[in-house]
Amino acid sequence: MIATTHRLVQLSDLHLFASAHGRLLGQNTQQTFAAVRAQVQSRHPDAAAYLITGDLMHDEGLTGYRYLQRDLQGIGVRCYCLPGNHDRVDLLATLIDPHNPKYLRVEAVGGWELILLDSTIPGEDGGWLAAHDLAALDAYLSNQRERPVLVAMHHHPLAAGSRWLDQMIIRNAPDLLAILDRYPQVRALVWGHIHQQFDGQRGHYALLATPSTCIQFLPASPEFAIDTLTPGYRWIDLYADGTINSGVERIAAYPDPLELMALGY
Ligand SMILES: [Fe+2]
Repeated sequence: MIATTHRLVQLSDLHLFASAHGRLLGQNTQQTFAAVRAQVQSRHPDAAAYLITGDLMHDEGLTGYRYLQRDLQGIGVRCYCLPGNHDRVDLLATLIDPHNPKYLRVEAVGGWELILLDSTIPGEDGGWLAAHDLAALDAYLSNQRERPVLVAMHHHPLAAGSRWLDQMIIRNAPDLLAILDRYPQVRALVWGHIHQQFDGQRGHYALLATPSTCIQFLPASPEFAIDTLTPGYRWIDLYADGTINSGVERIAAYPDPLELMALGY
């Protein structure tokens, strides 16, 4: 039997508001996040770290970041946070998860390395990876071939099959995939943004997308549409031999009725 080295829990797309009363399509996003977080703490008390893949805020307000800062400090688990298209990169990097956004971000978790990529474009909802980040990633992977690697970012690198969402894909994702294809120590590429689960495999690495802690988007819908699936998260077990095991779990119910007829968010 192979011993588990570390369990990561991925949380994504919290869409919190500066106001404690902020609602997204009928849901108080602080309440849905609190329900998800409580289930994670109950079911995964042994989590080594939380990986939060963007859209921490919906309205980019300072008060919202301060709320999340207090909340995460109360959990006492190391949290690695990526910016999404709704985030303020500067507030995230100073208040929630201190790091220098100028450099390729590599974090050690057990015998693994997490590489966290910023896929945001200031003022836009779509995704793009900076040429200097891709070059740094290529150079890093070329030099470090011993430890297994998980790469994370906010936006999706592969079409989700929804026209409206796929307008916000990482437009230069083929450049990223071409790099990852060359390095067998890369074992997983994970993202958020699409508010739905996806599990795939590309050669030597898993492709994983994770539900939002608030509303869910209906898969394969050409236009914006809400799914009735409940908020969730993903656990990812990182094994010492470079294999992974992963699954998605959801809370039992929404706190309030969903606005299923919404035309956007
Ligand atoms: Fe989102």
